[in-house]
Amino acid sequence: IYGPKRKNSKGVNLNIRSHYQPLMDAMASFMDKQYPAKPLLAFDVEDDAANTHQVTSPYDRRQTVGSVQWTSKEQAAKAVDAAWAAFPRWEATPAAERAAILRRLADLMEEHMPELMTLCSREGGKLLTDGVDEIKEAVDFCRYYAMRAEESFGEPIDLPGPTGESNQLVMGGKGVFAAISPWNFPVAIFCGQVVAAAVSGNTVLAKPAEQTSIVAHRVIELLHEAGMPRDVVQLLPGDGPTVGSVLTSDPRITGVVFTGGTDTAQIINRALVARENAPLPTLIAETGGMNAMIVDSTALPEQVVVDVIQSAFQSAGQRCSALRVLYLQDDVADRVIEILKGAMNELRIGDPRDLGTDVGPVIDEDARNGLLEHIEKLKGENRLVAETPMAAEHTQDGTFVAPAAFIIDSIDALTREQFGPILHIVRYKANAIDQVINDINGRGYGLTFGVHSRNESFAAEIAQKIRVGNVYINRNIIGAVVGVQPFGGQGLSGTGPKAGGPHYLLRFATEKTITNNT
Ligand code: NAD
Ligand code: ALA
Repeated sequence: IYGPKRKNSKGVNLNIRSHYQPLMDAMASFMDKQYPAKPLLAFDVEDDAANTHQVTSPYDRRQTVGSVQWTSKEQAAKAVDAAWAAFPRWEATPAAERAAILRRLADLMEEHMPELMTLCSREGGKLLTDGVDEIKEAVDFCRYYAMRAEESFGEPIDLPGPTGESNQLVMGGKGVFAAISPWNFPVAIFCGQVVAAAVSGNTVLAKPAEQTSIVAHRVIELLHEAGMPRDVVQLLPGDGPTVGSVLTSDPRITGVVFTGGTDTAQIINRALVARENAPLPTLIAETGGMNAMIVDSTALPEQVVVDVIQSAFQSAGQRCSALRVLYLQDDVADRVIEILKGAMNELRIGDPRDLGTDVGPVIDEDARNGLLEHIEKLKGENRLVAETPMAAEHTQDGTFVAPAAFIIDSIDALTREQFGPILHIVRYKANAIDQVINDINGRGYGLTFGVHSRNESFAAEIAQKIRVGNVYINRNIIGAVVGVQPFGGQGLSGTGPKAGGPHYLLRFATEKTITNNT
């Protein structure tokens, strides 16, 4: 299971023309298609024009992708009724049958990769390379969780006892799960949450991010085509506070699996515990980060810069794992900054569907305004180190932000996660390394972290002292692979479960011990 027998999805190598060209040809037919997405519930939903919202592309707001009809509060409440009623039947469905549906979805997503990738670009502003990774990760989640479910939820475990009694440990679901997801991994995280909860025997109400409901709708259509009953997984597109509050205030919701901002996780947590006559809730929360990297004087500056560029600016910095604060030891700082300036100058900002683009748009106007406000503030304090040039003709109709790097004094200068292509650099002296670690740990987030050093014992010591979910040594800090780098943080970054890891499904499960003295 952990070894060479289990294989991750290969995806498509865009550098090989014989892979790239057929994919581009297949994607072309989905470039102009208009998608009408609606709630996908256990019951039929009437058209409701007044509650339908147009979706436009982040790289060109004049282009529409389609429309999304949001779920009303009444529909959401009825969907909970259906999910509640379906739970006993679904929990009793053999794990192998549940797992088979996930494997069929994985195959369908591979088959429909061109369409899903096109939607990731058109609706989410994703680069082609990010789109390939997105579908691969979703496919991996399905196959990995299918395998883990058969192992954990298959046969009951017989336990030896000191008496003549027989003892069995039986795994089951918890009940109804709300799966609330962000826009930045609109297929991978969305799909990963839903299939993990469902394959563990729970019924699921999936609430995708407002910005990326069309691609989520397509994934749930494929999941239903794969054989998932419509009352077991339902899709509830809509506004977070409206649909979210119906779900999180209902006493029949036994768990919430959430990925998104730390503030939103706190709102959900408060809503869950405020319920009366409700079971103690399970909250699986994967939230924001203020991820740091420490570079000491033995590091190779050229390798550092390649990894910093990927970590800070790939996906326009819109990854929870992205690098936000780069700590450079004084002896190497000038050299790294000089190479970094050169590299940032070469990045190309533009249409994410062009293979030559390095940095696509940010998700929407609100995101851009928040990032620009932070950039202007730091520029006003004369902290700018480098900024990628942005050509107006490629960016004027979309929501683009040019990658920028600033010098700051410490991670404590940052009051909130800046979710975009902004890198902060702190210079430190070798004898201040303990203070640096204290500052990073003291900030309270704990998602990803990197260290660049050719001193193995230094790197190992830092890795041991830093309190985060994922540590990367001498490489970039993004792109955790399912079953290889289980992903998830601690502290303000989450409640700890590791998506794509061997223990993840157990968070969605109940365990029952049956002792029989017959
Ligand atoms: P967000 O918190 O704004 O929204 C996430 C989801 O929560 C959306 O579906 C939204 O509609 C819903 N929501 C909003 N208010 C709600 C409420 N009151 N009740 C219930 N649901 C509500 O986050 P976002 O902007 O979509 O995503 C970006 C954030 O996600 C960043 O902070 C990023 O770090 C984080 N993220 C974390 C991980 C991880 O694994 N740790 C992965 C990806 C993204
Ligand atoms: N799993 C994603 C990454 O590692 C968030 O970048």
